[in-house]
Amino acid sequence: MPDRDPLLDALDADATREAGARFLDLVARYLETTGRGDGPVSTAQSPQDIAARFDGPLPAGGAPLDMVLSRLERQVLDGVTRLVHPMYMGHQVSAPLPATIWTEAVISAVNGSTAVREMSPTANAIEHQLVRWFGTLAGYGPGCGGTLTSGGTEATFTGLLAARAAALPDAWEQGVGADPPVVVYGEQAHYAVTRAIAELGLGLRAGIAIPARDHRLDVGILTATLDRLGREGRAVMAVVATAGSTPVGAFDDLEAIGALCAARGLWLHVDGAHGASALLSAKHRHRVAGIGQARTIAWDPHKMMLLPLAAGLVLAREERDLDQAFAQRAPYLFHGQAGERIWDQGVRSFQCSRRADAIKIWVALERYGADGIGRLYDRLCDTTLLLHQKLGERPDFVTLHLPESNILCFRYVGDGHATPESLDQLNFALRQRYNASGEGWITTTLLGGRRVLRTTIMNPRTGPEHLDRLLAGLARTARELAAGA
Ligand SMILES: Cc1ncc(COP(=O)(O)O)c(C=O)c1O
Repeated sequence: MPDRDPLLDALDADATREAGARFLDLVARYLETTGRGDGPVSTAQSPQDIAARFDGPLPAGGAPLDMVLSRLERQVLDGVTRLVHPMYMGHQVSAPLPATIWTEAVISAVNGSTAVREMSPTANAIEHQLVRWFGTLAGYGPGCGGTLTSGGTEATFTGLLAARAAALPDAWEQGVGADPPVVVYGEQAHYAVTRAIAELGLGLRAGIAIPARDHRLDVGILTATLDRLGREGRAVMAVVATAGSTPVGAFDDLEAIGALCAARGLWLHVDGAHGASALLSAKHRHRVAGIGQARTIAWDPHKMMLLPLAAGLVLAREERDLDQAFAQRAPYLFHGQAGERIWDQGVRSFQCSRRADAIKIWVALERYGADGIGRLYDRLCDTTLLLHQKLGERPDFVTLHLPESNILCFRYVGDGHATPESLDQLNFALRQRYNASGEGWITTTLLGGRRVLRTTIMNPRTGPEHLDRLLAGLARTARELAAGA
């Protein structure tokens, strides 16, 4: 037996309450200071400057925990975009619910992969219960199934894979052939949809984008397109509707689209990555009325349920649809008896090694309650509506839509005399300079071909005073830019 490696002592020391408390203290200080709005939202340092901090030889020997913690604080935490900051109003990634942040350590401590039940018997049971709860909210019956995913992109891929298995049962063995069925989706759908179409081997030409009307998939054009495809004898693999679109947070008319698909026997997948959480809100639930008509649903708890990354979910009205999607055999892992329901989630899930993210979603529900999380959903939407109102009171900005959720696009127009093209440039530069200032953080997109500013309120601590600061900061920065400063 070789001598005991001193590294084993380091492992023991790092596993103690004292060592853990130091990490915890670091995180708690970050949450407290950033949560109350201290310091900049982001770093103005260039990619090169940040990369230079880590440029060095591979650390072969390791260092004392003190030194590592100090670098973590000074060189990592110091250079992050602070989503917990109330002036962060950027992409659709949350300021996470605190109890779920601490639960991350529990998940990693246990580290059971949820692909196979025997590795994670309790997380597996929790995941199945979450699927039942979420499926029931969506209006599904007891035959429903689902699996957690890394996010909405994987969830939509999985839903469409299930649709492919139904339309082309031989595709797993034989491929999709030269004339695959088409997928029809709204032009404002997330790129997850076209990515899945390509990944599934259908080829992008098998994707048909339906124009939007008022940012929603135009159901009249969808109907005419399905009629035309029928006349041409082209098979439709799936229709994809969006609940909570990425650009403006709009909800497609799921009742009308669901009825259309039901009448024609078409597979409806709803990308509710952003907006399916409206099911938790008494005030906003009506926006997803009809979602239960979908055969599959993508729903990201890491967006509007404010879970930390990663927590995605795909639901299927019939669990067997997911089982058929992945026609996988793996005798070293999955041990179900013929004809018996398999508890292993790996048979209906893209990932093999999978974190037990179910535990943190369960903790969120236990701690804050489904109704509480629904109220937070409302609060994010109310704050966004207030921003819309405040913008409406100013001559130097225009709003571009009434927010249906927590996403709002608007445009700086100054005194109204600039050309649309110069405003495109100004708005683009405005977002860059404003974000670089550390005062706040927003995003931008193209809407109707024009460059616009875009906010997504993902932090329940963002309040009226922060909205005022946002508008004052943007207007001041825009005036500086217009003056050539
Ligand atoms: C409507 C919609 N679908 C899918 C996604 C992708 O989700 P994820 O980033 O979790 O893969 C997003 C992300 O913003 C989205 O807004």
